[in-house]
Amino acid sequence: MESKVNDLNIIFTDFLEAYSKNQEPIPVNFKELVSHIKFQERATHSIHIYPAKLLPHIPYFFLNNDFFAKKNEYVLDPFSGSGTVLLEANLANKNAVGCDSNPLARLISKVKTTNYDVGVLKNLSQILKIEIESTVIDENEKFPDVVNIDYWFLPSIKLQLYSVLKAINTISDEDYKDFFLLCFSNCVKKVSLADSRISVPVKAKLNRETNSTHPFFDESKAKLKSLESLNVFEKFGDIIAENIKRFENKKALNTNVLTTKIASEDARKLNIENECIDLIITSPPYAGAQKYIRACSLNLGWTQLSSKDNLRELDKANIGREHYSKKDYLNLKVTGITDADKLLQEIYKINPLRAHIAANYLIEMKQAIIESARVLKKNRYFVLIAANNKVCNQEFKTQEYLRQIAEENGLRTVCRLVDDIKSYGLMTKRNKTASVITCEWVLILKKV
Ligand SMILES: C[S@@+](CC[C@H](N)C(=O)[O-])C[C@H]1O[C@@H](n2cnc3c(N)ncnc32)[C@H](O)[C@@H]1O
Repeated sequence: MESKVNDLNIIFTDFLEAYSKNQEPIPVNFKELVSHIKFQERATHSIHIYPAKLLPHIPYFFLNNDFFAKKNEYVLDPFSGSGTVLLEANLANKNAVGCDSNPLARLISKVKTTNYDVGVLKNLSQILKIEIESTVIDENEKFPDVVNIDYWFLPSIKLQLYSVLKAINTISDEDYKDFFLLCFSNCVKKVSLADSRISVPVKAKLNRETNSTHPFFDESKAKLKSLESLNVFEKFGDIIAENIKRFENKKALNTNVLTTKIASEDARKLNIENECIDLIITSPPYAGAQKYIRACSLNLGWTQLSSKDNLRELDKANIGREHYSKKDYLNLKVTGITDADKLLQEIYKINPLRAHIAANYLIEMKQAIIESARVLKKNRYFVLIAANNKVCNQEFKTQEYLRQIAEENGLRTVCRLVDDIKSYGLMTKRNKTASVITCEWVLILKKV
């Protein structure tokens, strides 16, 4: 392993040297660079699904490299999502600090990086099983505030889910309770009528009228049949067992106890003092690319992390969101980035909403970049992972605009790497005028 770490140091030093000659981005393939690690089975990476997860090879590359951070130093991810960077930081003997506006993301990150006593988890899962068996649910009880609950869940599934939740709520230790809540959340979408192939809940085409020649007809019919007789308790038990195994694997990898703190809920207002972070690695949201809150709405409701009335408020805190009322975009906002403003003025004439989404995205990302620069120590690195996109069929150079913002706010580009990402999770077409995201830019910035 040590030799691999040294290899990564040497590889990066070569990249730096090459970049300093002509400032041209360097093509890389992170999966190949870190091919010796099987991330799917690594520690707790797969305890819960999450939209647009970062390829763990990327943080691994930077975190296992003395050039960027040393043992016990502090690594921040201001858009930490499901905690990929935070977990890799801990596994690389670094302390981690996270921040995310989505309460489900914060739950996943927290659980993923907690050092649980596996024996206690096993005992509690036995106690929980007994508690669930003795929980009686009356159909007239007030169910959790889940958006369109009867549309997404068959009546028998709804009753079973509620008895699991009630049993989880009897656990008094908050950290352990969160582990079971996460397993429960993982179970929710699997036992719903939502199509598991799609990130935002879309009802699987299970109705009688669905054309039998439809490519997913057989699969959908089989899903409905299995849901009608599904034992949610068994499914929940299987998820618990799989996740406990992941914590056993994590323990085997991580002997030192490192801390992970979820410091804040907004990357624009980090609850962190000036210049105390040693390294930042982050993959921020894209403009109008992922509906994080909608994608998690069933989980947020069932775990009681958000009522359905609060979903809109949560969405408003999301950088890159798509929902605005007409009065928000009566005039186009100025981002201060000359090329972006020129392009957005043209787009505004065709589609004012799309132009506003992109302009507001850049304005809010500027606030987040300034805040990140504030907490980073001088002469330390900020690794920003971003991609270009299309807005109304026009190329929108997100990574270039973010880099410009960074350069204007105390950060200097020392290297740019570009990876072809054909197989990453973001490869879905978000709306008619947006293109697929086809390569990932890794900007390595230094605070001056
Ligand atoms: C590309 S995802 C990060 C994925 C993460 N690297 C992972 O592997 O799971 C971007 C994240 O930014 C979060 N986000 C959006 N607006 C935010 C804000 N204002 N402050 C903090 N996080 C925000 C979203 O909730 C989402 O989890």
